[in-house]
Amino acid sequence: MQAPGKINLLLRVGAPGADGFHPLATVFQAVSLYEDLIAIPGPDIAVRFGGSVDVSGLTTDDSNLAVRAARAVAAHSHVPSGVHMQIEKHVPIAGGMGGGSADAAAALVACNELWGTELDRHAMHELAASLGSDVPFSLTGGTAIGLGRGDDVNQVLTTGRLHWVLVTAEHGLSTPSVYRELDRMREAGEAPPAPDDLTVDADLLRALRSGDAAALAPLLQNDLQVAAISLAPALGETLKQGIAAGALAGIVSGSGPTLAFLVADTDAAHEVRVTLAVAGHQTHKVYGPVHGARVIEH
Ligand code: C5P
Repeated sequence: MQAPGKINLLLRVGAPGADGFHPLATVFQAVSLYEDLIAIPGPDIAVRFGGSVDVSGLTTDDSNLAVRAARAVAAHSHVPSGVHMQIEKHVPIAGGMGGGSADAAAALVACNELWGTELDRHAMHELAASLGSDVPFSLTGGTAIGLGRGDDVNQVLTTGRLHWVLVTAEHGLSTPSVYRELDRMREAGEAPPAPDDLTVDADLLRALRSGDAAALAPLLQNDLQVAAISLAPALGETLKQGIAAGALAGIVSGSGPTLAFLVADTDAAHEVRVTLAVAGHQTHKVYGPVHGARVIEH
């Protein structure tokens, strides 16, 4: 199984509702940085982690999202089945790229396949949304508008590939604290007020449809960016460095602290990577869109 990380090309955040969640208008893009999951039948439901990122802080008990995903499939289909999952993580942890959501999506698809539970798309989507706001998108991948909590997902038409340079940080940011910081800043007048209009502009969709990176660049926008920079001020400096090195635009991904720089082509990606690497940053070159969670081996 393979499930991709994501970046948000647009993330508009409304004022929180009574349930504490913020209504969103977002555009997700799945990018070529993947979580790999191997699932084999087992006596119980268990998960282990490895991979290219530091996994020492991850829990593997019932609070783990992949374990919860497996339990959700078992409960929904009333099969008393076990699975042992090995997840090789490459998407940064608490990085704003939906790595935990990708694990959950991979676990849903893997268990459905392994146990022959034959859940249809609708049932899978419902289970995904119950696990986290970004999990439905991890199932579908591609490029998609997300409304509601981000879990009401609709694909958008795109042409060609967008090239990105990602800058990953050593320490993650907690998603709830970034949302809380945005609320605080808005109340204190330190951030623009919550938009009333939670829609995706037609010019952004047009730029995606035509595959025009230069037209897309000025339209990238993330309401959480100001809050992520407030909690991790060094991000602001790194954004400037990437732009100075030739990126078309730079943006905080989701709740951060991963940064995504849009570049014109692979040559420009190289320039930006070299400059940022010399400044001591960890970079990845990726492209999007890519497919959602899918089986790649049996
Ligand atoms: O849905 P997920 O588990 O990814 O959300 C993590 C936390 O992020 C939520 O508990 C909430 O504090 C915040 N969040 C939010 N509004 C959203 C999505 C997430 O406030 N639309």
